[in-house]
Amino acid sequence: MRYKDSVILAIETSCDDTCAAVLDEEGRSALSNIVHTQTEHERYGGVVPEVASRAHLERLDDVVEKALADADVTLDEVTRIAVTVSPGLIGALLVGVSAAKSLAYAHKLPLTPVNHLEGHVAAAYLADPTLEPPFVALIASGGHTALYSVAESGMNLLGETLDDAAGEALDKGARMLGLGFPGGPAISKAARGGDPSRYDFPVALKEKNNLNFSFSGLKTSLLYKLKALDAKGVKEELTHLAAGYEAAVVEALSRKLLRAAGLHETPAVVVAGGVAANASLRRALTQECERRNLKLVIPPPELCTDNAAMIGAAAATAPAVPYPDYLDLNARSV
Ligand code: KG4
Ligand code: ZN
Repeated sequence: MRYKDSVILAIETSCDDTCAAVLDEEGRSALSNIVHTQTEHERYGGVVPEVASRAHLERLDDVVEKALADADVTLDEVTRIAVTVSPGLIGALLVGVSAAKSLAYAHKLPLTPVNHLEGHVAAAYLADPTLEPPFVALIASGGHTALYSVAESGMNLLGETLDDAAGEALDKGARMLGLGFPGGPAISKAARGGDPSRYDFPVALKEKNNLNFSFSGLKTSLLYKLKALDAKGVKEELTHLAAGYEAAVVEALSRKLLRAAGLHETPAVVVAGGVAANASLRRALTQECERRNLKLVIPPPELCTDNAAMIGAAAATAPAVPYPDYLDLNARSV
């Protein structure tokens, strides 16, 4: 059903995706969800903040226009603007926040500031509108890896990475293996047909009750394995190295998520963030959750990676700042 008289326009520019989406005011269904992924960073093997800001500036108007057109609504029909204000690259965030403020001001609309991580978790409500707190959520992206207990009253941090984020570990591993960027999908592709147990990769902080993550030892382990091989050897062993590396990341993530669900006795778990698009993580968790009778919600890949529909979904359950009180609203990098 379309709620044309109450429509959220959401904007997300915290990293390297320029995103806009239109949602019904309930925030549980997206009428459009446009993502422009910046390709400018590929040749650098990572996101360059200044390049990201400029690309957002160049693209955002078109992306917003397309989101409205796809949803078949005009700006006059929008009743609320939502925008990511933190955390992220400050210059990139500022492009979205400035655009959102201008649009809201010009159309005398309320504006809801959204935390990017709460947005990732809210993607689960779009994927499964019957989902309700309490649940445990794992956010695994390029910038964050953390576990939260989610209650009606908000999110509570249970554990997080002590060094690299899971996506960052995959991106860096992919770079070491000479694969493309972003590393997550590149490693998955390279791992196809590989034997994940041929090489022994470490899974850190395995001790009981520990809900933190660490991926620096995994990276070092790959580095030593590569040093022990010549170029021909690396080529021959690539699929097994990629499979073993990916399996270690998947094991660390699923082990801690299931442990958190057990410790907090929640009936459901949610996985969000770019790494949740990983097919072998999805497979492993589907099996384990079935066995433990846990409800598992992993949004489809397009809602796991950065997008604005998740920001609109988070905004729907948060208060809006009325017109024009948001003019001094600012972006924050953390
Ligand atoms: O959430 P996201 O799109 O952006 C951030 O907020 O960081 O996550 C990007 C991360 C990258 O590190 C990328 O390698 C990883 O998500 N990623 C994946 C997959 N697709 C994206 N990792 C594993 N498997 C995938 N299919
Ligand atoms: Zn993200």
